[in-house]
Amino acid sequence: MSKEVKSAYYGSFFHAPVYGEFEYLEDALIEVDGDGVIVRVVTGDDPCKSDLLEAYRNRGMLVELGEGRFGLPGFVDIHVHAPQWPQAALALDEPLYLWLEQRTFPLESKFSDMEFARRVYGDLVDALLARGSTTTVYLGSAHLESSIELAAICAEKGQRALVGKTVMDDPAANPEYYRDASPAQAVGDTATLIKEVEAIGRASKQGIWPVITPRFIPSCTDEVLRGLGDLAASTGAYVQTHCNEGQWEHDVVLERFGKTDPYALRDFGLVNERTIMAHCPYVTEKEGEMFAELGVAIAHCPMANSYFSSAVAPVQRFRKQGIHVGLGTDISGGYSPSMYENIRQAVLVSRLLETGVNAMLPPDERGGLGEGTRVSIVESFWLATTGGAEALGLPTGTFEPGRAFDMQVVDTKRPDCDLTGFGVFDAPIDRLARILYLSTPDNVRKVYAQGRLVCDKDAR
Ligand code: GUN
Ligand code: FE
Repeated sequence: MSKEVKSAYYGSFFHAPVYGEFEYLEDALIEVDGDGVIVRVVTGDDPCKSDLLEAYRNRGMLVELGEGRFGLPGFVDIHVHAPQWPQAALALDEPLYLWLEQRTFPLESKFSDMEFARRVYGDLVDALLARGSTTTVYLGSAHLESSIELAAICAEKGQRALVGKTVMDDPAANPEYYRDASPAQAVGDTATLIKEVEAIGRASKQGIWPVITPRFIPSCTDEVLRGLGDLAASTGAYVQTHCNEGQWEHDVVLERFGKTDPYALRDFGLVNERTIMAHCPYVTEKEGEMFAELGVAIAHCPMANSYFSSAVAPVQRFRKQGIHVGLGTDISGGYSPSMYENIRQAVLVSRLLETGVNAMLPPDERGGLGEGTRVSIVESFWLATTGGAEALGLPTGTFEPGRAFDMQVVDTKRPDCDLTGFGVFDAPIDRLARILYLSTPDNVRKVYAQGRLVCDKDAR
């Protein structure tokens, strides 16, 4: 049954429905219904196109992207610590445990203050939308109230979001001023968050979902991990956590359970097809097989890999193993709120994984994994769009019928960042690469989520 078209968008679009490939839809027309869902894509050479264009123009339903502008799918950022936004760019030369103790925990503890939380979260959601991220997976602070408020802010601003309240209850691992009071309170708060955020989601057009969010094993007691696993089974809610991020975490978990993160989390009931595992550079082939079997998604955070893992996640192996992989900024384990920046970094760190980094050692001792580890710019674009959508099981990421109309309009002719290429290297792949590598936030002019205009810099 065809749905009624309420608006139509005319211009040239890039998207990547298939890993490793991209499509350039030149002079195409995208028809969108009243729910913000794509009804049909009329390609540039379709004989009906000019009649349709005229009809939509006459009825005031046509939006034309304009010359030098291109439509890209809204990005899907699957790992963001919302309360760490004021910390972005700070102390990234410290190891993870010190960064957490000295900066992150004191900062996150401030989100008991609702006024402060509203100010920071409102600014963050605006900053992400302004950079083209129409879907974001958030970890909130350990506070229930401000985490629910974050979901409400996303709903109001039109961003599709998954929102969790971070659980960290172990008195031996977390400061007294910032931790859950008990396993029962942490599980109870998470159950309340699930109900409240589901209600916010039901009232939104674009969708908002709750996420069960144990910070990582070292900050949680066995009891809370078991309780959250039971909650995952009884509610079917999404789950997110940090997994095998660094050597320190790896060793702590192995010492405590005699097994590594993936198996420990599985045995607590926290590994299923709704689980998002952040980072994962230390995930072995065998652990990866288990993830693929259980339908887990990995949030690849290339910046945080460099800062806190001192290792690079083997994205191409994960993909070959059949694991869902999306991209995350990891604000503020990565300093940038921009998925453009992370698309670039995913390519960059994969080059280091290929060859290894210490040129003083013989080639076979440098730690490089050899050919086949490189991520191309087109693959990275897929990770930031279709990959993220697949990871979450949500219909976004491409311009295909049945998907949400989530689009960012990139102007390649901005005065301070001309991406037109000056008439040379003008093939679609060259245009796309320039957009992905060189865009600044200023080049992103308009952003639509579920058919709603959620950011409009032209109107400023
Ligand atoms: N592991 C536990 N907490 C955190 C966090 O806030 N950021 C990162 N990158 N890793 C973590
Ligand atoms: Fe993180």
